[in-house]
Amino acid sequence: MEFNTKVIHGGQKHDPSTGAVMPPIYQTSTYAQSSPGQHKGYEYSRTANPTRTALENSFASIENGKYGLAFSSGLSAIDAVIKLLAPGDEVISTNDLYGGTYRLFTKVFEQYGIIFHFIGMENANNIEGYINSNTKMIWAETPTNPMLNIIDIKASAEIANKHNLLLVVDNTFATPYLQLPLDLGADIVMHSATKYLGGHSDVVMGALIVKDENLAEKLYFIQNASGAVCGPMDSFLVLRGIKTLHLRMQRHCENGKAVANYLNSHPKVQKVYWPGFENHPNHQIAKDQMHDFGGMLSFTIKGNNYEQVIIILENLKIFTLAESLGGVESLSGHPASMTHASIPKDEREKTGVVDSLIRLSVGVESEKDLINDLKNALELI
Ligand SMILES: Cc1ncc(COP(=O)(O)O)c(C=O)c1O
Repeated sequence: MEFNTKVIHGGQKHDPSTGAVMPPIYQTSTYAQSSPGQHKGYEYSRTANPTRTALENSFASIENGKYGLAFSSGLSAIDAVIKLLAPGDEVISTNDLYGGTYRLFTKVFEQYGIIFHFIGMENANNIEGYINSNTKMIWAETPTNPMLNIIDIKASAEIANKHNLLLVVDNTFATPYLQLPLDLGADIVMHSATKYLGGHSDVVMGALIVKDENLAEKLYFIQNASGAVCGPMDSFLVLRGIKTLHLRMQRHCENGKAVANYLNSHPKVQKVYWPGFENHPNHQIAKDQMHDFGGMLSFTIKGNNYEQVIIILENLKIFTLAESLGGVESLSGHPASMTHASIPKDEREKTGVVDSLIRLSVGVESEKDLINDLKNALELI
């Protein structure tokens, strides 16, 4: 099956009892057993639930994996991955990553003796200098949040393979419509399914997808043992969202390109961060590993003036100022005070998250209306 068919049918069966085309929302915590241990494959909904199974099969299908796992949030999916490690193990992570991931790594897992190195990964060769006998994992997010840096997944996978490390790719920004990390050699794909996979800003969820059976077993064990699973209603919503992922992503990419070009030519804009520009430092890698450039971009204004940025954010009418991204509606964000506030100022400024940086999640509305909205807000400064 091709991707556009997989998002609709991948891993799906019509409901055996009724023929329902969409899986019923199995709103149950438990399942009748005819005799102890005799059941129809389901015992207790933390372990497995048929609506969640349908979603997990879809996750596996669209990412070209074999096994999918759904969690109660993106962060609980990340939490499960790090629980594969033991005290003393080391992780090499990109330094430009979602603030909540950074907080989980540094404020929770460092307490348990796991060591994280946050490094620039725009050049994959940087990774090797940090590998030692305790290194177990490489954590990559590409495109990165919010600087839209691109990490070469194939080159990172070659390094991971050579040193017997797990390569994890947070594919939240790109989605499998744009890039397939498992095909490029990654071991685990992770998603905040809250974003593009769900696509409608109505659910919080996380996903993991793997090919390797052994790794899948370990992760299923952690999923069940730690218990951060999502409910059947949320599973249904994300499954429904995935069915239009290809259509939404196509429009996100078109609108993202139009907005990036508009801002790039605006006299008050200092810099636009978007991997589709030919002068983006890793444009060629983006072109090679992605089918298009997505709907996420960030920009700074000339003078780096905090008050002016607030005026813009308060006056955008279609771009709603809100946390999150990837829904059908356009959102604006101020990483320094919102998504990345948990990263110390000097640390975030090193990666470019300055006070005047605005992040846009370009939705699927009319391109003309989106550009007019930005034009009107920029006129006020
Ligand atoms: C790239 C990325 N990874 C992970 C997460 C965390 O996911 P969640 O908010 O679903 O826990 C987010 C949330 O914004 C994100 O943007």
